Amino acid sequence: MKKKLISRRILLNSSLFVMLFGFAVAVFYPVVRFLWPPRDAGSGGSQTIFIPLNELGVGDAKMLRFQGTAIVVVRKENSVYALSAVCTHLGCIVKWERENNRLFCPCHAAIFDLNGNVLGGPAPRPLPTFQAKIVGGRIVVGDA
Ligand code: FES
Repeated sequence: MKKKLISRRILLNSSLFVMLFGFAVAVFYPVVRFLWPPRDAGSGGSQTIFIPLNELGVGDAKMLRFQGTAIVVVRKENSVYALSAVCTHLGCIVKWERENNRLFCPCHAAIFDLNGNVLGGPAPRPLPTFQAKIVGGRIVVGDA
């Protein structure tokens, strides 16, 4: 009969240690992330976003985070639009409606065009827009 290489006590202690360590990580990781958020969270954030053209088809939209806020980038045939995705009424996230060629807020039915103008609903102001252009094979949002 072979001799046991590891005793039951060592195995149980090791298992208990691994479980306690995993529990401690699961508890403290969110607390640490809350106390020390990533640098680009908040009002700063990236000044320029590059999106490969093949990632966004004509008529499609992409939701991104830019300068600390949610934005929606919409590609048309020869142009591209970047707007805040935060509704100016009460702050819900607007959705791109390709079939209607508009941005729609599902909360109280505000409607915006691609320039951010209010077409309907309770939104008091247009959506803020951001500089966006197609350069080479990429969509560039921001300063570049
Ligand atoms: Fe968008 Fe009210 S939050 S219409």
